[in-house]
Amino acid sequence: MTAEDVGVGEDDMAEIARHTRHVVGGPVALGGAGDPSPYTALGVELAIRTALGEDDLAGAAITVAGLGHVGASLAELLARAGAHLTVTDLDPGKRALALRLGARWVEPGEAIAVRGDVYAPCALGGVLDPESVARLRVTVVAGAANNQLAERGVARALHDRGIRWAPDFIANAGGLIHVACELRSAGYEVDHVSRGVQAIAGTLRTVFDRAQGEDTTTLDAAEALVAERLAARN
Ligand SMILES: NC(=O)c1ccc[n+]([C@@H]2O[C@H](COP(=O)([O-])OP(=O)(O)OC[C@H]3O[C@@H](n4cnc5c(N)ncnc54)[C@H](O)[C@@H]3O)[C@@H](O)[C@H]2O)c1
Repeated sequence: MTAEDVGVGEDDMAEIARHTRHVVGGPVALGGAGDPSPYTALGVELAIRTALGEDDLAGAAITVAGLGHVGASLAELLARAGAHLTVTDLDPGKRALALRLGARWVEPGEAIAVRGDVYAPCALGGVLDPESVARLRVTVVAGAANNQLAERGVARALHDRGIRWAPDFIANAGGLIHVACELRSAGYEVDHVSRGVQAIAGTLRTVFDRAQGEDTTTLDAAEALVAERLAARN
């Protein structure tokens, strides 16, 4: 099955659906679940709260890198929660959103080194490598971007620096939970999606507790959890 991802929107899904039925997340008017991005953003916001161990984000200094479908939704949620936002995007047209949200704008190359609580990568993958991790000035990295680690060893570098990394495949699962609901035999149900997205917090808590208890990386802890869940299903 396919669905929206970076650079792709509902209209593209509608076009693809004209050629194959292996599509979810198409426009609601055409019977699809609609854009997953707002649900991805909700999950990332939860991931940030969980990683910080704080329900209240008022005053938290958070940098959102990438103000596309997910990053813009996330920035809106965080601004509403009272976070001190710093934002960036390659597209200077996104400065208008920064202005509307009262967020500080930095150039894309500067975002990773902004001092604060959280760095939220919401653009492309591979942003976390040994050099960029050395520049981080936050205690938490939690964002929507897929494949954030340039290579697995970077999870160890984050761990060694005492930076809590929310594995991307958990933090950004909200949109997938939303579109996958289309495939349920019971059909799409808002409550089902909402419970699934909320569960991201519990999953991440388990991962963080295990990583801390076993002095291992959050990547190792998350992958161990995946293996256990799959084994339990087989
Ligand atoms: N859309 C979803 O529901 C979803 C779900 C899971 C994961 N993701 C992942 O989240 C990320 C964002 O997805 P999206 O749907 O919001 O994409 P999008 O195409 O809507 O937005 C991406 C944004 O990132 C900006 N950008 C690209 N490179 C940049 C850089 N170096 N610095 C700053 N900004 C940069 C682009 O200009 C664009 O505004 C991707 O990695 C995607 O794979 C998205």
